[in-house]
Amino acid sequence: MCGIVGYIGNRDGAALVLEALKRLEYRGYDSAGLATVSDGKLTVAKAAGRIAALEARLDGNLPKGSLAIAHTRWATHGVPNEANAHPHTDGDGTIALVHNGIIENAATLRKRLRERGHTFRSDTDTEVLAHLISELYTDFLEDAVISALHMIEGTYGIAVVSDRDPDTLVAARMGSPILIGVGEGENFVASDAAALLEHTRSVVYLDDGEVAVLRADGYQILDLETAKVDKPVTTIEWDRQTVERGGYRHFMLKEIMEQPASIRDTLRGRLLREQGTARLGGLRMSDDDLLEIERVVITACGTSWHAALIGEYLLEELARLPVEVEYASEFRYRNPILDDKTLVIGISQSGETADTLAALQEAKQRGARTIGIVNVVGSTIARETGAGIYIHAGPEVGVASTKAFTCQLVALALLTLRIGRLRSLSVLQGRDIVAALEALPGQVEAVLAKADAVEVLAKEFASSPNALYLGRGYNFPVALEGALKLKEISYVHAEGYPAAEMKHGPIALIDELMPVVVVAPRDAVYQKIVSNVQEVKARSGRVIAIVTDGDDEITSLADHTISIPKTIDPLTPVLSVLPLQLLAYHIAVQRGCDVDKPRNLAKSVTVE
Ligand code: G6P
Repeated sequence: MCGIVGYIGNRDGAALVLEALKRLEYRGYDSAGLATVSDGKLTVAKAAGRIAALEARLDGNLPKGSLAIAHTRWATHGVPNEANAHPHTDGDGTIALVHNGIIENAATLRKRLRERGHTFRSDTDTEVLAHLISELYTDFLEDAVISALHMIEGTYGIAVVSDRDPDTLVAARMGSPILIGVGEGENFVASDAAALLEHTRSVVYLDDGEVAVLRADGYQILDLETAKVDKPVTTIEWDRQTVERGGYRHFMLKEIMEQPASIRDTLRGRLLREQGTARLGGLRMSDDDLLEIERVVITACGTSWHAALIGEYLLEELARLPVEVEYASEFRYRNPILDDKTLVIGISQSGETADTLAALQEAKQRGARTIGIVNVVGSTIARETGAGIYIHAGPEVGVASTKAFTCQLVALALLTLRIGRLRSLSVLQGRDIVAALEALPGQVEAVLAKADAVEVLAKEFASSPNALYLGRGYNFPVALEGALKLKEISYVHAEGYPAAEMKHGPIALIDELMPVVVVAPRDAVYQKIVSNVQEVKARSGRVIAIVTDGDDEITSLADHTISIPKTIDPLTPVLSVLPLQLLAYHIAVQRGCDVDKPRNLAKSVTVE
C-alpha cells in the first residue's frame, strides 16, 4: 500500500529516490521520507503530507550521499504524522528502515526491547524492526536483518541502510512486493517497477523469504538461511502508466482484482477464532459502552450508502439492534432524533465526503456517539469521529468504488460480530461467522477467476440502453450497487429494485430487449426469487443470474449464469457483487468510456 525506493551507486541518491518516489505517489500519500548515507553519516528527512511537502521542507537542501532509501506512506498503524513517517531509525540513529506491511508481533517485541533499554519515538510496528536489527547487528548489516526477520511475524517489504555499512543496501520480502532494478555501476530497490523505469528496465522480482544485498557493482539474493538464490532478470516491456496499473488496462480493473488481498488486509489481526468474535481496537468502546447502544443510524453517500444498507441487515439480524440507514445529505437537514444511546456510523471510502462529514458533526452535536468506517487514515471523517474501523483497502484510484465496497462490508461484518457476541450470538455462531470470513478471500479469488466469462457476457449486452437489477434480502443492496456501477461508468440507464417490487412498476419495462440481472444466491429468500425470475422470463426478458455453485433451478430458467461459492447468507454480497463490478467494467470498455474518470463524477465529493 505504500511505496519504497532505494538506490546505491554514484549519483546523487536523495534526488533520484525522491523523483522515483513520485511515480508511486498514487499508492499512498499521507507522509513521505528519505534517508541517505554519506561520509559515514546517516541523515533522515521526513514530513507529513505529500512528497511535495517533504521537498518544501528540504527547500533544495537535499542530504548528500549515493546510498539512499525513501518511502511514501499510506498509514495502517498510527496517525499519518511526521513521527510515524518512514524511514524509521534505531535508538542511535545508525540504521534506517522503510517498510510496507504489518508486523503482527510488534507489541511483544517492543515490550522486550523496552526492557533492554530501547526507547521508541513512534507508534509504528516498523520502528520496532529498526531497533531489533540494531540489537542484532555485529559485523554485517545483511546478517542482522536476516536474524531480525526470523523473529518477526507478519508481512514485509523492506529496504534498510546503515552508516556502519555505507556500501550496502539490504531489501527483503514477505507478502509485500519488492524488486531490484539492475543498472551499470548502480542498483535499485523498489516496491513497484513503475518507480524505476526511467533508470532501468531490468528487474529481479524477490519472492517471499528472499533477501537482496545490493552494492554499487552487483547484488546477491539470499534465502533466510543465507543460501544464495539464482533469480532470472526480467525485462519490463510496459510503459509507465501500464506498470502503475499493475499491468491492467485500468485502475478499476486492477482494484477489482485486488479484492482478495484487500479483504485479507481488512481482516488481518482482527479475528479471534476461539472466542468467535472480532478485535476492533480503533472503536475505543468497551463491552459496557457497546451494550449501552440501543439504536444505530448509518449514514453515507453513493456506494458507501449501499454498504450501509447491508450493514442494516447484518446488525439487525445478527446483533438484534434496530438500525436506520440515511443518505447523509438528507440526514443533515432533517431534525433527527438522537441521544447518547444512539450510535451513528459514517461510512466513507475517502473520509472526505462533505455530506457524510456534516451528518456526523450534526449527530455529535446532538449527543450521539459517532464512529467512522473509513479507508483513508487520518482523513477528515476519521479525525472528526476519532474512533472507528479502518478498512485498509489501500488507495482506490478508479472513481467507481469497488474494493472499498467489499472491504466496507467485511468491516461491517466484523462490527456485527463484535456487538452481536455481546448481545445475541453464541460462541458457536460467532465461530461460524469467523470461519466464513476467513474463507472469503479465497472465494473472492474463485469468482474473479471467471472474469473472462463476464467479459463475453458484456459483449452481448454492451449495446443495450437500459438494464434492470433485482435482488432480495442481503442482495437487494447488491442490485442497487450493480446498477450504480453500470450507470457511473458506462452511462447506461440502470435501476436496482427489490425483486418482488418489480411487479409494482418496473415489470412494465420488460420486453425481449431488456437485460435483467438477478442476484440470486442460494439463501433464505432463494425460492422467492425463483418466482421473480419466472415473471421476467414470462415477459421475454433476458436474464443474467448470479447463482450459487451447483444451482440448477434458476440456471435452467436464466439465459446466462455466473456462479459464486457458497458462504453464509450475510456474506453473500461480498461475492455476488464481484460479477456485477466486472460486468459494468467490461460494458464500459466495450462502449469506449473513460472507465477510471467517468464524465461528471469525482472520486471525492468535498462539496454539498
Ligand atoms: C462519490 C464517488 C462514489 C462514492 C461516493 C461516496 O460520489 O464517485 O464512488 O461512493 O462519492 O464517497 P465516500 O468516499 O464517502 O465513500
